[in-house]
Amino acid sequence: MTKVAIVFHSGYGHTAAIAEAVQRGAASVAGTEVSLIKAAEASEHWEELDSADAIIFGSPTYMGSTAAEMKKFMEATSGRWMHQQWADKLAAGFSVSASWSGDKLNTLFDLAVFAAQHSMIWAGLNILPGFNHSKGSIDDLNRTGHAIGVGIQANADQGAEGIKESDFKTAEALGARIAALAARFNKP
Ligand SMILES: Cc1cc2nc3c(=O)[nH]c(=O)nc-3n(C[C@H](O)[C@H](O)[C@H](O)COP(=O)(O)O)c2cc1C
Repeated sequence: MTKVAIVFHSGYGHTAAIAEAVQRGAASVAGTEVSLIKAAEASEHWEELDSADAIIFGSPTYMGSTAAEMKKFMEATSGRWMHQQWADKLAAGFSVSASWSGDKLNTLFDLAVFAAQHSMIWAGLNILPGFNHSKGSIDDLNRTGHAIGVGIQANADQGAEGIKESDFKTAEALGARIAALAARFNKP
């Protein structure tokens, strides 16, 4: 059994909906057990995190960076960092913001550097950027054109129901990719 954990924060539900899509994607890979963990409740889930083969981190972008609640979780892992307990686990990330850019690349960088501090192995997204040519559309996968992870745009005046199907599918693809990679890593 391959174990994938998703740790996320969501103030208003958008990132939570995307985290569930990442979970669906990971669970679609046979032999994968997926845990969905709220950053604020991580202290009750250290065992799942420590035993995971891959951890996927998700945060909304607030003020151009990682949400404070997610940073709290990140700082709470410093004991694990000290002993490099998460070394060689796979890692990946996603961020949601209202604007197309919204500076969420900074959040994805933050999550990737965090994973590097833990000596985790960061995997980006394997979907070429969409919506960047004359025949492209908002329905393209990876429509915000991120490679380092999944970058989602969610309208500020709508809840999770405003999130585009293409974004859910992009998030599912990240989950499936990480679960498949984790299974490869697990092969004797
Ligand atoms: C305090 C705060 C700061 C925000 N900063 C940004 C920002 O820098 N860029 C952006 O595009 N959206 C920003 N937003 C909008 C959120 O990123 C967006 O609504 C996102 O979908 C929220 O995710 P959540 O529902 O999971 O909390 C901000 C929202 C809040 C509440």
